[in-house]
Amino acid sequence: MKHNVFNPASFVIAAACALTIAATANAAAAGDATANAASASTDAAQVARGAYLAKAADCAGCHTAAPRVSHPGAAPVATPPFAGGLGMGSPFGTIYTSNITPDPQYGIGRYSYDDFARALREGIAPGGKRLYPAMPYPSFAKITDDDMHALYAYFMHGVQPVAAPAPQTRLPFPFNQRWVLMFWDWAFAPKSQFKADAKRDAQWNRGAYLVQSLGHCGACHTPRGPAYEERGYDESASAYLTGGTNDYWFAPNLSADPGSGLGRSSATDIVEFLRNGHGGGLIPFGSMVQVVEDSTQYLNDDDLTAIAAYLKSLPPHAPSGFFNARSSAALQTVQALKTGDVERPGAGIYASYCARCHQMDGAGVPQKYPRLAGNPAVLSASSVSLVRLLVEGGGSPHTGSGPEPRKMPSFAGKLTDTEMARVLTFVRNTWGNTAGPVTRNDVSSVRGALHK
Ligand code: HEC
Ligand code: HEC
Ligand code: HEC
Repeated sequence: MKHNVFNPASFVIAAACALTIAATANAAAAGDATANAASASTDAAQVARGAYLAKAADCAGCHTAAPRVSHPGAAPVATPPFAGGLGMGSPFGTIYTSNITPDPQYGIGRYSYDDFARALREGIAPGGKRLYPAMPYPSFAKITDDDMHALYAYFMHGVQPVAAPAPQTRLPFPFNQRWVLMFWDWAFAPKSQFKADAKRDAQWNRGAYLVQSLGHCGACHTPRGPAYEERGYDESASAYLTGGTNDYWFAPNLSADPGSGLGRSSATDIVEFLRNGHGGGLIPFGSMVQVVEDSTQYLNDDDLTAIAAYLKSLPPHAPSGFFNARSSAALQTVQALKTGDVERPGAGIYASYCARCHQMDGAGVPQKYPRLAGNPAVLSASSVSLVRLLVEGGGSPHTGSGPEPRKMPSFAGKLTDTEMARVLTFVRNTWGNTAGPVTRNDVSSVRGALHK
């Protein structure tokens, strides 16, 4: 199983400790040779731990360019990991990620440990270059020293150098003035490392640490303020993880709100969603697919359970949407859909285009197609993700332990804006779902922005 490669972090730590103890015991008797061999293995353990942490932080997800297609119709060719060049859409223009392989000229091969820690925590590269907060340094500020050392060891000794420059980011004035970011950093970026909450247990603290620092879940799931700052970096802020939109994907509310949040999802559902890409009938879509493929599927059981425990501890905030499977309206529509006796706009479109996968009762098919009844993403305040998914289609994640990936087709050429608005409004208000309607304008503004 692929996801086991980096799994036994605790084993690696234990091995490292054992080696250090052995080294101390043997050094005096056997002399320098043994001590050197032991420290080489300790380094190997450190590099392996760094590799696991790099998965938890999804460094590769952002720092690897999209597969290359040499000519139309050619098979896509994978690009080298960590060599940079992925274009990230921001409200200010496209920002390209850097080459972070240990190449001395084009990568970070000349970085000292302090350079590395400063770039990750403060967003300042050597020479004083301020990084755009598309690099999640406001979250990485919380990474502990131990983890930072392991990451550095991995990037210096475990990653293949790539001697090729990443494309230059060219934002229009005034956003090309990187020094201005000094004020942004001063006003918004958190500066202190993670501090454990003594009133909570070790599991909760581990989950909080992973979510807030390495996992940078808030970069997508926390709403942003007028200066693109995340409106909170931990549970002390009521807006933290209550849902945010980036690049026309809305990342839902992860607080305990029973409508569009995780209130009805169990900790086990969350663990399975993050590991297998299937949990409690939900399947990641949009930008969450990559998060599961590149990052969360590789986390070990303890870490996934800790993340779920932390998320389940967040009190409900920013309520929106409702679900009541037993409401009489819900039972009536299910009955009407079965007999084909429906007049609601959108019902006919659903029956012709969607029901073969998501089923007439909206329950989906386990391990294949997500349920839409009671699906928090369907009930979210924002419908941008739903429109984008309908327009572009999608596919469930490839994971080492989850079921075979399935496709959701694109409906761009099949449904008009009005029809999309109708079918989404129908899906958001059937089977016990209750959420705001989707208008033709909602659909056309997203399609216009996506040029699709
Ligand atoms: C969400 C996307 C994202 C993730 C995740 C991410 N980065 Fe970055 N990173 C960026 C972007 C974008 C830049 C370029 C920013 C700029 O040009 O101002 C960058 C820049 C950097 C730089 C500065 C390089 C230079 O000299 O220009 C370093 C070092 C770096 N990242 C390391 C890492 C490491 C290590 C990880 C994982 C622990 C990581 N990044 C995770 C987006 C990301
Ligand atoms: C690159 C942006 C991005 C990042 C980073 C991200 N997410 Fe998501 N997430 C999304 C989007 C978009 C969705 C909505 C689509 C879906 O339900 O899969 C989502 C959905 C989810 C859901 C399902 C919510 C629901 O109610 O259906 C969970 C749970 C989740 N994310 C957890 C996490 C955790 C934990 C992290 C950090 C380790 C994280 N996400 C990081 C974008 C992101
Ligand atoms: C061929 C099967 C198929 C058809 C037909 C189909 N879908 Fe999907 N749908 C999927 C799959 C697979 C996913 C998961 C997509 C992903 O992970 O990117 C999905 C995801 C979704 C989601 C996100 C829910 C979640 O938790 O992942 C919504 C909303 C949705 N579909 C609505 C529709 C609507 C509305 C239609 C009809 C216009 C439709 N689908 C037609 C297969 C299908």
